[in-house]
Amino acid sequence: MERRDIPKQKISKDAIRRSLRLFRLMPSSDRWMLAVGTLFLAVTAGTALLFPDLLGRMVDAYTDVNKLQESAMAFLYLFLAQAVFSFLRIGLYVRVAENLTAVLRNRLYKSVLLQNMDFFHQNRTGDLLSRFTADIGQIQDTFTSNLAMFLRQLMVILGGIVYLFFTSNTLSLYMLGTVPVVVVISLFFGRFIRKIGRQVQELTGNNSVIAEETFTGIQNVKAFTNEDYEIRRYGRDVEELRKKSIYRGLMRGAFSSFIIVCLFGSIVWLIFLGLGMVRSGEMALGELISFMFFTGFIGGSIGGMAEQFVQIQKTLGAVERVLDLIEKPTESLHNKDTPLPDKGDVTFENISFGYPGRPDYKVLDNISIQVSEGKTLAIVGPSGAGKSTIINLLYRFYEPDSGRITLGEKPISEMGLFECRRKLALVPQEILLFGGSIYDNILYGNPNADKESVIQAAKMANAHDFISTFPEGYDTIVGDRGIKLSGGQRQRIAIARAMLRNPQLLILDEATSSLDTESEQQVQSALKTLMKGRTSIVIAHRLSTIRHADTIVVLKQGKIIEQGSHEDLMGVEGGYYRKMVERQQDHTDFINHQENP
Ligand SMILES: Nc1ncnc2c1ncn2[C@@H]1O[C@H](COP(=O)(O)OP(=O)(O)OP(=O)(O)O)[C@@H](O)[C@H]1O
Ligand SMILES: [Mg+2]
Repeated sequence: MERRDIPKQKISKDAIRRSLRLFRLMPSSDRWMLAVGTLFLAVTAGTALLFPDLLGRMVDAYTDVNKLQESAMAFLYLFLAQAVFSFLRIGLYVRVAENLTAVLRNRLYKSVLLQNMDFFHQNRTGDLLSRFTADIGQIQDTFTSNLAMFLRQLMVILGGIVYLFFTSNTLSLYMLGTVPVVVVISLFFGRFIRKIGRQVQELTGNNSVIAEETFTGIQNVKAFTNEDYEIRRYGRDVEELRKKSIYRGLMRGAFSSFIIVCLFGSIVWLIFLGLGMVRSGEMALGELISFMFFTGFIGGSIGGMAEQFVQIQKTLGAVERVLDLIEKPTESLHNKDTPLPDKGDVTFENISFGYPGRPDYKVLDNISIQVSEGKTLAIVGPSGAGKSTIINLLYRFYEPDSGRITLGEKPISEMGLFECRRKLALVPQEILLFGGSIYDNILYGNPNADKESVIQAAKMANAHDFISTFPEGYDTIVGDRGIKLSGGQRQRIAIARAMLRNPQLLILDEATSSLDTESEQQVQSALKTLMKGRTSIVIAHRLSTIRHADTIVVLKQGKIIEQGSHEDLMGVEGGYYRKMVERQQDHTDFINHQENP
């Protein structure tokens, strides 16, 4: 979302009250700065109001050299005062705005990061990011300039009107009856023209979309002999665009004619009336000049306030969205300090679960699984069976609808999230390397580890050798902007990461994409080292991986359909596991046959 797409929020008492929560995030020193800054703002607005008055006095004193010099000096002081106070005001406001922006950024980041997984499934990353860029940017701008401009314009309008009535009641009434009305009408007129402008832009966009579609899909157009159809379609759009553009041009012309006749006309009319009053002695010429300057100030401020009004509406919306997210309850990460079990055995007892986005769809249906300390459990089954979901529950990314999971005989629902997750290490199905060095990516498994342990982990993960072939070794940058590692290399980095964590329970969610035989072997032997003597849960797509697992569970549509050792399951006549093994065997034979004809 770009800044200009920020939706507006109706200005209501309620919306304003909710936005005032923002001030609670400011330290009291900042609230004072804002108050003092606003005082300085009032001073600059006041000095701005003195300007037309001084100018008028200078004109009336044009015959008296001394007085003339006096008013010239007065101008000098006026400008100096204005310069100093305006600088001080900006200094204070900028400080408040930037302090607030920093607080908002930090608080928002923290709050978002500590939301549960479901939140991240329900909110698109782009939307979340626009809270940081568009919304916070809008608030920042408001405190840097919009708010000050709005207040100054308001003061100028009110102060100006008071001054005008002191000068001449009659002329003021005439002025208020014309200039603000014309300004407001022209604002609406301007808005209307902008709306037509957007329509023209949209039509232009459509136009090029048609051309782009037909040029890229030219084979389709020609194959279906639809050239005539497309030419007519394009022509219709061009015609619409032509008419709309002419309409826009005419409206623009009407707008400038309106300004010439009404705005300039009303100004000349006021001068005409005013000069009559000067002639009859009701008013001095200088007074008329200040009057006309004030009129210009007021007209300009009314026009400017309309724009600030829109900005403030947008800010109200932005504040609300940002604060709602900041105040949203987060996951509670730590639980009581109860001692945690050291044993790594895991049980799933009668677990049923459906994702919050699709609660009626049972992804897991009354599952019970048990893995003893130091043993390996393998989970196999077709895609979508719910294998990764079991891991999501173990990590407490989601809570099961019924049943319970225990780790070392203690229900994980009674552990703190951090405590529970610290016992686990995951080599995930989709491996994401962060933008940074290989070293940092491995270190992510345990940021407290030293360099030696990182290299040790890489060696055990069979990653050290390929890392050493890069000219920059462990400092090689990977991720979006870095070099691209192969699937097998990425997996070995992820294994090194898990190795460094030295978890009680190791979880492998094997990648579905297949590796070539060589990296496959490297990955397998790295995994073997990692799993040695450790409780492990392995989700496997390549059945060769799990032949030696202590227990194999076959999951299908959220139900366990077979369970036992490799030998047990191979003994099941017509069993799912046995069929899968046979099918993969054929596949491998086929590939080997192709490779060695
Ligand atoms: N965050 C989610 N929200 C809603 N439904 C989900 C979510 N994640 C997964 N699912 C659904 O849950 C079911 C099980 O998904 P899961 O990822 O556990 O399958 P899997 O066995 O790991 O499959 P694969 O072998 O392809 O990795 C699927 O039908 C999937 O569409
Ligand atoms: Mg999966």
